[in-house]
Amino acid sequence: MALESVLVTGANRGLGLEFVRQLVELPKPPRFVFATYRDKNTTQALGDVEKASKQTKIVLISMDIRKTDQIKAARKIVELMVGDRGLNLLINNAGALRWVGFSEITQEDLLFQYHSNAIGPVMVLKEMLPLLQKAAAHKRGGMKASRAAVLNISSMDGSIQLTEETSEKWLTVFGYRISKTALNMAMRVVALTVMEKGILVVNICPGWVRTDMGTEDADLEVTESISTILKTLSRLDESHHGAFLDRNGKNIQF
Ligand SMILES: NC(=O)c1ccc[n+]([C@@H]2O[C@H](COP(=O)([O-])OP(=O)(O)OC[C@H]3O[C@@H](n4cnc5c(N)ncnc54)[C@H](OP(=O)(O)O)[C@@H]3O)[C@@H](O)[C@H]2O)c1
Repeated sequence: MALESVLVTGANRGLGLEFVRQLVELPKPPRFVFATYRDKNTTQALGDVEKASKQTKIVLISMDIRKTDQIKAARKIVELMVGDRGLNLLINNAGALRWVGFSEITQEDLLFQYHSNAIGPVMVLKEMLPLLQKAAAHKRGGMKASRAAVLNISSMDGSIQLTEETSEKWLTVFGYRISKTALNMAMRVVALTVMEKGILVVNICPGWVRTDMGTEDADLEVTESISTILKTLSRLDESHHGAFLDRNGKNIQF
């Protein structure tokens, strides 16, 4: 998979940081990786990857995906650097979870998770769309990540069909589930909207992964989850446009 430029949101820790680590290790690493964070004090690990990167220019950008002005400022930085070649791949990875069930949930909890997991990724994509369009126009052929693509990190928790856990703990994943269902629907509609533009749009669940969000109890290490996602991404085409997939590329029921 030859990617020229990639934007990863929420890249200072967890899955986002691992995306950056593995992108620069690809046999043909990208020319640019734009890695976003919110708090400069949390960028040490990302800074280390940046310093060690030989072939890829890693550009750290401060961006809260709930803040329109910061999204616009980020777009300007990316635009300036990629020029006419545009942005190949947007990885909408940033997300947030509050472990609060129906009985305790507040309107603020619900709005916070909806904003972080559904509205934020949509607004980032809306702002970056012209840059993705430039990349799509630059390379001919069918839909593929190395041309122009949006990878949304969704969750099996957003599948209505597969929601059957009844443990106390899983019932507290309430606002998060709603927000990921909304993300899946939003990106399905976006996929239909941008159908003719040559930009591949997919939602992928990374599995249950050991991060701050996934907790120590999770099944997978970040390295395994991300390497599998990158392998899957390299073989996606128009047949996957608008799909909701697991990390191996298998369809998940909406
Ligand atoms: N881990 C799992 O088992 C699992 C399973 C399914 C799906 N996912 C999804 O995978 C993605 C990454 O999760 P993770 O496990 O790596 O979580 P994590 O360790 O909690 O990291 C979340 C990342 O998102 C960033 N973020 C949160 N809200 C943001 C906002 N408003 N603006 C910008 N950045 C924001 C965080 O930045 P700060 O450091 O500034 O807070 C952090 O970089 C999320 O979308 C999550 O829903 C994870």
